[in-house]
Amino acid sequence: MTMKNSLAHPNIAFIKYWGNRDQNLRLPANGSISMNLAALETRTAVTMLDKAEADRLFINSEEQSGQALARVSVFLDILRTLSGCKSFVEVRSQNNFPSSAGVASSAAAFAALALAGTEAFNLQLSEKDLSRLARRGSGSACRSIPAGFTEWQVGTSDNDSYAQSIASPDHWDLWDCIAILESGPKTTGSTEGHNLAPTSPLQSARVADADRRLAICREAILQKDFEKLADIVELDSNIMHAVMMTSQPPLMYWNPTSLLLMKEITELRRRGIAAAYTLDAGPNVHAICTAKNKDIVQRHLASLPGVQWVLVSPVGGAAHLLPEN
Ligand code: PMV
Repeated sequence: MTMKNSLAHPNIAFIKYWGNRDQNLRLPANGSISMNLAALETRTAVTMLDKAEADRLFINSEEQSGQALARVSVFLDILRTLSGCKSFVEVRSQNNFPSSAGVASSAAAFAALALAGTEAFNLQLSEKDLSRLARRGSGSACRSIPAGFTEWQVGTSDNDSYAQSIASPDHWDLWDCIAILESGPKTTGSTEGHNLAPTSPLQSARVADADRRLAICREAILQKDFEKLADIVELDSNIMHAVMMTSQPPLMYWNPTSLLLMKEITELRRRGIAAAYTLDAGPNVHAICTAKNKDIVQRHLASLPGVQWVLVSPVGGAAHLLPEN
């Protein structure tokens, strides 16, 4: 039996994706920009099951059922339709970071699955088509297909909504220090959260201003201008959380330590240490910083009350296949 193996990194968004124009196709309300995280990786193996009557899914060696399996099976149905092959498969996905770290793993998971899955079904897709496909599993997964700093074009349809690299991993030696505050599962997952975005009166303003923020962020990355990047990354995170907090029902992802860390990171920057905060759909705080400052930022965050530990990562490469074993 042939087994196809792949590896993908999660990413941290500088300009966030929040809300869909089309929930089913995961066509986003706005474009987004992120950086892949080299130190964190998901390895996925996909094996065709000749006589099985259902797909099987193992995450970190534990067999999954219910919603997790259903979401993966719906994704695999796309591959079955594209290839004309009706076989069920076994998916084994392994993260090198504890799932209890509360770091979003669906981006890396669906990027890796898009790659190993298409190989298993004998579909050789271009990077663009892989990114479009990964988007169907989890929107942000499309940004984990290309290398380094990537931008997801909002697009007009399924055909042109995908991510491309805007700068390679070695363009700028940025790091992400992730302060883990809570390690339990999220109260409201992002799929449900995207649904609630239009209920906030602030979402239309957030979306209307997105192209401006994207342009500033893109320029800051290309010019390696940390001050410019820091201001736009923090603004964008705050705007997304303002939308979350004003949704019906409200989504409050921060905890008191999140706020403490945001203030500490801004204070570090005031003292000349290049660091900027950003938060996804959870309380953990990402401090984006330059290589020179990463040890100082990591040590400082780790010393604060309420921080369980700090993961550190440089910029990561593209999703890729691994040798068959
Ligand atoms: O890809 P999803 O559905 O898990 O959504 C990701 C949402 C955020 O992490 C909050 C923002 C982003 O752009 O990654």
